[in-house]
Amino acid sequence: MNVLLLGGGGRECALARRFAHSPLLGQLYIAPGNAGTAVYGRNISLDITDGQAVADACRELKVGLLVVGPEAPLVAGVADTVRCQCPGTAVFGPDADGAALEGSKIFAKEFMTRHGVPTAPFIAVDSSNIAEAEEYLRGLSYPAVIKADGLCGGKGSVIVDSLADAQATLHDMLGGRFGDASRRVIIEDYLPGRECSVFVLTDGKDFAVLPVARDYKRAGDGDTGPNTGGMGAVSPVEYADSTFMERVAERVILPTVQGLQSDGIPYRGVLYLGLMEVGGEPYLLEYNVRMGDPETAVVLERTTGDVLRAFYSVARGAAREVCLGIAENAAVAVVVAAKGYPGAVKTGAPVTVETQPETGAAVLLGGAVKGADGVARVASGRVATVVGVDKDIFNARLIAYRTADTVKFLDASMRRDIAF
Ligand code: AMP
Ligand code: GLY
Repeated sequence: MNVLLLGGGGRECALARRFAHSPLLGQLYIAPGNAGTAVYGRNISLDITDGQAVADACRELKVGLLVVGPEAPLVAGVADTVRCQCPGTAVFGPDADGAALEGSKIFAKEFMTRHGVPTAPFIAVDSSNIAEAEEYLRGLSYPAVIKADGLCGGKGSVIVDSLADAQATLHDMLGGRFGDASRRVIIEDYLPGRECSVFVLTDGKDFAVLPVARDYKRAGDGDTGPNTGGMGAVSPVEYADSTFMERVAERVILPTVQGLQSDGIPYRGVLYLGLMEVGGEPYLLEYNVRMGDPETAVVLERTTGDVLRAFYSVARGAAREVCLGIAENAAVAVVVAAKGYPGAVKTGAPVTVETQPETGAAVLLGGAVKGADGVARVASGRVATVVGVDKDIFNARLIAYRTADTVKFLDASMRRDIAF
């Protein structure tokens, strides 16, 4: 079966690497891909948010399975177009209706409230209820959180420490700090707890839960500096034990899947639950409608079985056939980033990696592309995700860091405290 994978980050490199092992795979195409995905398949050039262009490519390349990596094409309705126009292509990723769970935080919070999913109390605000919002802010204790409604590439949530800070942030956002994405916002209570990411494969009826991971979102050691897409990840997560995961299934996953059904929203793909553990109880901070990056790297290392076949089952509406297991090992991912990330970075510097990493290590190139000269060069902030796998976190971390130190490019940097 030919597979088309949309996206070009470390997540797509991790997925391509895993798909390459599947006996189901014919030709793997990745659009646009990167220097890492080129090792496992053929990169093609395509506007991945243009549903018509993606549908045309699916027909031309005889694609049996389309896997949508990032959220933007899903929110733009690419899955809808391909489902409608290409009956021979199964699609892994929800239609725009389902993708609104990530595309609109207000939609997601209202969905959680309607279906009894535990989440922080909130109010939705736009230009019509600013006075009500001001009143709400005066009644809150601080810190609190203000979030842009729309997609902001992971930068749309601001933790405010005081009423004055909250008022300024509210007006800044409604005034267009993130363009149209922040013309509507939510204000919510701050939840003090420990975060984890849970990925659920679902066809809207049945579901399978992948190994739980923790992401390191801040740029600097000790959780300092600005929020990023993620600077590292670890799996398993000590506080997300089996009792906690049972609660997640009962209080978050089941009501979500039932809620999708009762709201008449078809859903075939992955649901990413951004959870906060508070006193042993799960609270949902957000839904994403795609796998996380860099969490995918560690999650896949601990997932046993044929991941491509599992995605194909989900895409065909047969999630009950998913047959994956969780390995008793540990995985640590360290992101090697270019100077300036999460802001703009200088592109073009050559990247060199160890071609034969040690046992248990893998280097996944994300923000690097190869030119005609065959040299991989920096193309965006998170240049490489380096994974270490071993029987425990301590050893997995040693392997990950030893290998990350072999990834070389001008002004490379990484957090030194992942999984400590
Ligand atoms: P989000 O954009 O919802 O993923 O939020 C980004 C990050 O902000 C999360 O990963 C948390 O670290 C933090 N955050 C978001 N909402 C809350 C909350 N209600 N309480 C505490 N931290 C939060
Ligand atoms: N690592 C967080 C995300 O993918 O959204």
